[in-house]
Amino acid sequence: MKDVSGKVAFITGGASGMGLGMARSFAAAGMKVMIGDIELEPAQKAVDELKAKGLEAACVQVDVSSMESMQAAADKTIATFGKVHVISNNAGVAVGGYSESCSMRNWKWVMDVNLWGVIYGLQAFVPLIASHGEGGHVISTASMAGMVGLRGAGPYNATKFAVVGMMETFAADHRKDNIGASVLCPGIVATNIGHSGRNRPDEYGGAVAPSAKDNTAEMLAQGLNADVVGDLVLEAVQEDQFYIFTDPGLKHLVETRCKRIMAGYDWASNCNALDGVEQIGGLPG
Ligand SMILES: NC(=O)c1ccc[n+]([C@@H]2O[C@H](COP(=O)([O-])OP(=O)(O)OC[C@H]3O[C@@H](n4cnc5c(N)ncnc54)[C@H](O)[C@@H]3O)[C@@H](O)[C@H]2O)c1
Repeated sequence: MKDVSGKVAFITGGASGMGLGMARSFAAAGMKVMIGDIELEPAQKAVDELKAKGLEAACVQVDVSSMESMQAAADKTIATFGKVHVISNNAGVAVGGYSESCSMRNWKWVMDVNLWGVIYGLQAFVPLIASHGEGGHVISTASMAGMVGLRGAGPYNATKFAVVGMMETFAADHRKDNIGASVLCPGIVATNIGHSGRNRPDEYGGAVAPSAKDNTAEMLAQGLNADVVGDLVLEAVQEDQFYIFTDPGLKHLVETRCKRIMAGYDWASNCNALDGVEQIGGLPG
């Protein structure tokens, strides 16, 4: 979407971190920005900041883990700005732990926000983007944890790999529809995600502070400035770039994963069980 000026963007998790970075960059480029976040106060603060610069913005409280809440946010976006062209499915929470021992409530929380939040975003907003025929763009925030398995992050990895897979399919499904697609795979970015337990609702165990031995927040503080990520995402939308990586220095991790996958094919080519077996080749779609 080369010309973003005057277009409307809805950003989940837009009150903090990379979502706020995107809100700043999109608004500075002339877009009308609707900030959606579970935390209304910082969302309103972000709107005040943008409006003070003469930019167009509004906010709505949304819980991305609820389809009803997402639909209400979509309705408010249309009521406020008339149309929507861009959705950034960005809200997310960090849950560390091993897949086999992470509490079921934490598993459910991270799946409901990081995965179902993206699904609900697509369901509520893509029909609205498709309806006006002016084209648009869908960005979903995954992670480098959607590219490679990270030790001690099984549940988080599961959500982010799912988002990458879903967006690869989304891009293929909409290649001819004038709706671009991107998946944002950040490395380490200085945001508040180390404190995401602050927003854990009661049904998942309630708000929780990071444990004393959890040094994620300190490590993140040394990461990339989230406003740089906002500019990067804007550039990707304008250039219709699908994979958005914030740290080119991490390319070797993906290369190593690809080499291990190729080695799996080499093993399959030489294994006894498949020796001489005829196969049809190809895949559905
Ligand atoms: N910071 C990093 O290093 C990093 C790296 C890779 C991926 N990510 C991903 O980036 C995205 C943005 O996170 P961030 O790092 O900017 O963190 P952040 O905590 O600064 O921002 C996340 C925002 O999402 C909001 N949020 C949380 N739960 C919500 C819900 N249920 N509904 C609506 N809003 C909700 C929070 O209130 C917050 O404003 C996340 O999807 C995260 O997984 C972050």
